Amino acid sequence: MFHDIAIDGPAGAGKSTIAKLVAKAVGSVYVDTGAMYRAIAVHLLREGVSSSDVSAVEKAVSEIDVLIRYVNGEQRVYLNGDDVTGQLRKEEVGNMASKSSAVPAVRAKLLDLQRGLAKTQDVVMDGRDIGTVVLPEAQCKIFLTASVEERARRRFKELAEKGVPADLEKIREDIAQRDLQDSTRATAPLRQAEDAALVDSSDLSISEVTAEILRIFYEKNGIFLAKSAGFCFGVERAVDLVEEKIREKRPIFTLGPIIHNEQVVREFENAGVVTLRDEEALENVSCGTVILRSHGVAKAVYDRLSDMPVAIADATCPFVARIHEIVEKESAAGRRIVIVGDPSHPEVAGTTGWSKTPCIVVSTAEEAEGIPLPPGTPVCVVAQTTFNSQKFKEFVEIIKHKGYDIVILNTICSATEARQEEARSLSSRMDIMLVLGSGDSSNTRKLYGICSDCCANTYYIQALVDLNKVHIQADSCVGITAGASTPNKFIQEVSKECLKSKA
Ligand code: F3S
Repeated sequence: MFHDIAIDGPAGAGKSTIAKLVAKAVGSVYVDTGAMYRAIAVHLLREGVSSSDVSAVEKAVSEIDVLIRYVNGEQRVYLNGDDVTGQLRKEEVGNMASKSSAVPAVRAKLLDLQRGLAKTQDVVMDGRDIGTVVLPEAQCKIFLTASVEERARRRFKELAEKGVPADLEKIREDIAQRDLQDSTRATAPLRQAEDAALVDSSDLSISEVTAEILRIFYEKNGIFLAKSAGFCFGVERAVDLVEEKIREKRPIFTLGPIIHNEQVVREFENAGVVTLRDEEALENVSCGTVILRSHGVAKAVYDRLSDMPVAIADATCPFVARIHEIVEKESAAGRRIVIVGDPSHPEVAGTTGWSKTPCIVVSTAEEAEGIPLPPGTPVCVVAQTTFNSQKFKEFVEIIKHKGYDIVILNTICSATEARQEEARSLSSRMDIMLVLGSGDSSNTRKLYGICSDCCANTYYIQALVDLNKVHIQADSCVGITAGASTPNKFIQEVSKECLKSKA
């Protein structure tokens, strides 16, 4: 059985961009049907044929040969042997393609070719009638749309970036007109197939749309990807900051590995980033930019850096920075700080450095019970952002009974809570659960613990080779979640391997 994916939707919804990314992620061939229609439109324009003159279009089409080839990984489109790739994105070509694609002879010509491709390999095809007419048997059908306003805005931005003057209102009207034309034409009008999943990209980034479509595709194959798997907002922000600084071409140092992922750290090091293993290594830094990672650092580190001839690029996650503020303020007001977290974790080490008085760190129920403070002490309890939320609640109950004048602030970040909750719910429904991430990632280890409690066949996957110990049957329901520093690329590689194991 071939895993064909059909992506339909109105013009400007981002179908071709997304289809290419989806094809790359699942290892399928991307068949650019829009480019094929546009190649025919180039021919009709060259020959001066009107799209309303059906017999002239039929005759012109009978003379056409359209070929798609990949040259150095790039798609090239040939019209009667002539490479017309550069002409396909022109406005007039797009308009002609929309009109001429309604002519039955044009559609018939391409239909055979497209179906032939899907019979011999896994394909991803995008267009207006792929799920309804071209590949009605496609395993996964997506109807990708976005509001007229959003599509007009995207087109306007695209033209502006190329320096082409454009009128936003005119673009908006053209898109609305084209929608009407496409959805009311007699032959194969644009409509959502009954079994297609609707994806509205109006408020989503390209990577979010791609991830959603991959999630739908893998689900059809018994592989369930947690929506919250992979980079969290704070890690993404830190990685983006490093990439931005690399472009500035100054010496760059990160204080500790920027994320808990060796591959990503190595890629940055290959691009010239120097990872300082600890604070002592700052002694050897005399210029450039020091990037503080999302875990945050103690106040003393900021003080030290401000006395050095370096720029500070601060990627401290705002959720962590909020804890620093709380700890500084509450300790200044005379409260003793209790941090529920792992004392060896860099975030916790950094947080303790914001307190005016020594902090107490508890990571077990026994330690919570044994807090050496007398009843009546003013205490403020906070949590490491990635701590297990259920355990935090348990420990808080213990601390509450010790008779302190207590302020409790649940500072576990919402991304962590959502990820843990989804992992709990997903793993309780799966035959096999895979938790992806580095062995030294604290939040991945906690996810593994949560999933192991709910699913007996839970595996910690740090590299593709770890999949060798997992026995996936064709009918296994496989769940996948991943820690906050697990790159999307690895999640997709594992998903693809799982799909292969089911074949
Ligand atoms: Fe920030 Fe939460 Fe990620 S604290 S770094 S968003 S896990």
